[in-house]
Amino acid sequence: MGAGERNTEAGNVPAHVAIIMDGNGRWARARGRSRQEGHQAGTENIRQIIRGFADRGIGCLTFYAFSTENWNRPGEEVDALMHLLGEVIEREVGELHRQGLRVVHLGSLEELNADLRKRITDSIALTESNTGMTVAIAFNYGARAEIVRALRRIMEVGIPAGQIDEALVSSYLDTAGLPDPDLVIRTAGELRLSNFLLWQAAYAEFYSTPTLWPDFGPNDIDEALEEYRRRRRRFGGLHPSEMGGAVPAVSEA
Ligand code: FPP
Repeated sequence: MGAGERNTEAGNVPAHVAIIMDGNGRWARARGRSRQEGHQAGTENIRQIIRGFADRGIGCLTFYAFSTENWNRPGEEVDALMHLLGEVIEREVGELHRQGLRVVHLGSLEELNADLRKRITDSIALTESNTGMTVAIAFNYGARAEIVRALRRIMEVGIPAGQIDEALVSSYLDTAGLPDPDLVIRTAGELRLSNFLLWQAAYAEFYSTPTLWPDFGPNDIDEALEEYRRRRRRFGGLHPSEMGGAVPAVSEA
């Protein structure tokens, strides 16, 4: 039996894990290498992490690969990240498709060059009927921009104010149809959301690890999932074990 099956049997596996991949620059600096080499190493890590979460029964895995704020980095670094996405799609999507995984994109395609846009839309089209884990790539993504886009569309189609509720707003976000993330992981020790899934992560558990993204591996996946299992999620209410007489006392015997 694989680790995934054990975890699934143990229950309480997040339906959707979203990852803020941080620390490529620090990983490179520690080795006297360029930031671009750090991003290269970070990109190479993505394959084993997709496999690792798929094997553990996760339904949806989101990577924050390029934020709307990342355009402010030096042009050379921005170009390298654009190039890496093109390369990773070229290299990996065939295999993801063979494994039955589905690729989706979060964010705006508009500012990307035509070649990258085509690679993204082609990989979405190729894998759209697959029923395995969904891999969402947040690239040129920012949560505030996403919410603004959703509001504009809601206005454009003329939905009356009284009909706008939380479910409707969710259905106009880039994540429409995906479950909200249960677990947000951020590597490299930072404790910020950095404009990532602000609406969807309202009740997500946040897990931060000092591990730098290129070093994040199967043991880190297990640690994050183990920590998630230990959390008691309340969604603003009370945990069932805190509901007074509603839950029978558990005997230690
Ligand atoms: C943060 O590291 C990481 C990013 C800005 C981008 C994450 C991108 C990748 C892992 C590679 C690209 C992935 C795809 C799918 C194209 P940082 O540069 O902020 O690290 P630092 O904080 O240590 O400087």
